[in-house]
Amino acid sequence: MNNQVKDGKTREIFSESLFKGEVRFMEQMSLHTSLRIGGPADVFAVPEDILSLRNMHASLKRNQIPCLPLGGGTNILVRDGGIEGVVISFKSFKKIEILSEDDNYVNLSVEAGTPLQRLVRFSAENGFAGIEGLAGIPGSFGGAVCGNAGAFGYEIKDVLVSLAILDYESNIKNYKAEGIDFGYRKSGILPGEILISAEITLKKDRKDNVLARIEGFLSKKREKQPVWEPSAGCVFKNPPGLSAGKLIDEAGCKGMRIDGVEVSSIHANFFVNKGKATAFDFIRLMEEVAHKVREKFGILLEPEIRIVGRESVN
Ligand code: EPU
Repeated sequence: MNNQVKDGKTREIFSESLFKGEVRFMEQMSLHTSLRIGGPADVFAVPEDILSLRNMHASLKRNQIPCLPLGGGTNILVRDGGIEGVVISFKSFKKIEILSEDDNYVNLSVEAGTPLQRLVRFSAENGFAGIEGLAGIPGSFGGAVCGNAGAFGYEIKDVLVSLAILDYESNIKNYKAEGIDFGYRKSGILPGEILISAEITLKKDRKDNVLARIEGFLSKKREKQPVWEPSAGCVFKNPPGLSAGKLIDEAGCKGMRIDGVEVSSIHANFFVNKGKATAFDFIRLMEEVAHKVREKFGILLEPEIRIVGRESVN
């Protein structure tokens, strides 16, 4: 465990006058990731309000204790040694608010911890179009923005207006989305900056049109992706103009298994936890699969999932 955390700095950081929310020690990250993999975080903190988040962030910076903001835990592999310092959960930040609207458009403010599918449902129920292709993508809105989540030609960046970000100095700054560099599965939000909320703009449409498009995308997903098994979605990015899943499939990797982790036989870019999988097994399988694709096609696959944490607990 991080020495400063152990030496009681946490008493100051999480004192009742500065911090409202929940604090847990040595919290298994497997409880907070869709893969159900990951060792213990030294501290797992769930701030209840923005002031507590800012106070905690400032004290962590002052004491040089590392922190990791966690979205829905759906695009991340936490190593078996867990995470040094403090994992910040955004569970309490899940407000969706209508800021303005006219006959054609509506602008919403969405907090980072809002489950992405709650936003998709809210939009569908109100006949707001623009994010139908994101139906069925697990995780939080904040995680989706940070990784520019997308599917079926939709990307979250296309509806963003502005972003509220907690910077290194624990100040909240507003940025226009067009000033931030978004790319395929990436955003220009810097490591160390934390997304608090964002404004999005959606187009008004008939509710049944929006719902029909969502249902179409969901049925494609159910048919082509192992959505019912623990995974982190696609493991590797698609190389330009190609599908990583197809390459892995054609390299003969479907069904390949290392202990508890298996390359899905439904979609080869999904690796699923068959029970008791470890990050160690997962990474070995990634290496093995990447090696086979490289041997067969001469293409180097790049991970889409984020790999974090220590190899083993000290
Ligand atoms: N294919 C195979 N074998 C497989 C998987 C796919 O032959 O095991 C073939 C399919 O038959 C199809 C082609 O490869 O002809 C493309 O497959 P698919 O339509 O499933 O799309 P993808 O490129 O594999 C991308 C995104 C998914 C997203 C889908 C739908 C990436 C890495 N993947 O997959 O996103 O849901 O399109 O739009 O960008 C994710 O990012 O986590 C993710 C799952």
